[in-house]
Amino acid sequence: MEQETVLITGAGSGIGKATARAFAPRVGGLVLADLDEGAAAELAAELGSTAIAMDIDVTDRDSVERVFRRAEEELGPVSVVHANAGVSSMKRAIDLTEADWEYNHAVNAKGVFFTNQVAVRHFLAYGLSGRIVNTASLAAKVGAPFLGHYAASKFAVLGWTQSLALEVAGQGIRVNAVCPGYVKTSMQDREVEWEARLRGVQSEQVRQEYIDQTPLGRLCTPEDVAEVVLFLASGASAFMTGQALNVTGGIYKG
Ligand SMILES: NC(=O)c1ccc[n+]([C@@H]2O[C@H](COP(=O)([O-])OP(=O)(O)OC[C@H]3O[C@@H](n4cnc5c(N)ncnc54)[C@H](O)[C@@H]3O)[C@@H](O)[C@H]2O)c1
Repeated sequence: MEQETVLITGAGSGIGKATARAFAPRVGGLVLADLDEGAAAELAAELGSTAIAMDIDVTDRDSVERVFRRAEEELGPVSVVHANAGVSSMKRAIDLTEADWEYNHAVNAKGVFFTNQVAVRHFLAYGLSGRIVNTASLAAKVGAPFLGHYAASKFAVLGWTQSLALEVAGQGIRVNAVCPGYVKTSMQDREVEWEARLRGVQSEQVRQEYIDQTPLGRLCTPEDVAEVVLFLASGASAFMTGQALNVTGGIYKG
């Protein structure tokens, strides 16, 4: 992949950051796009001259298009996209507001739609056999208490991933997803605190329960997910499209 340019959204933290570090030594160019441009810039400085940071809001189509245009001008056409930016919150279903529902859907579902659609148009314009990897979640396959709005937005990501994969397979474009379980990131730290408060238990108990539910007996690391993203972006997965790979330490088999 040394001639290729890779674009990652949500690259400033957690899973996106680990994916950027995994791609960095293997690719020609790396676009680190995040709402938090400062975090992306810090990572770009760490990764060296092939990486550039860009400000993006995946809920805004113009912003996504701007990033692809700038990437192309500064690094050349993008052939791999990791649509990873996401948000979560936890609330009882009966307390969810319209704003909670819409915010999760705007970033997690519409953000993936915009990022993927702009990517596919870009691949087609350059005749590229592009690859897209979307970050879905275990919550894209199994519902979870307090995460109804989040799970609904992530189920949408898989419906979209499968449909798009079917449409563009004939053009040699592959679209897959990763479904992480309990990943040690700042998102998880926030979720542990919310869940502990909602259930009236200690946060250490919640974290221990995540581990106890995981057959491999530990929390997932961002690097565990990054390796699977790398695989789905590489030629090693040449005959895979429309798939949603679990990176859950064995929690769910479907
Ligand atoms: N942490 C987990 O346990 C877990 C499990 C399954 C799936 N996921 C998914 O993995 C992805 C990454 O999550 P993470 O755990 O690394 O979280 P994180 O909070 O550490 O990182 C998310 C990144 O997305 C960025 N972001 C948020 N809104 C954005 C927007 N509108 N436009 C552009 N960037 C935006 C944030 O600035 C942040 O850098 C998300 O899609 C999340 O839903 C996480």
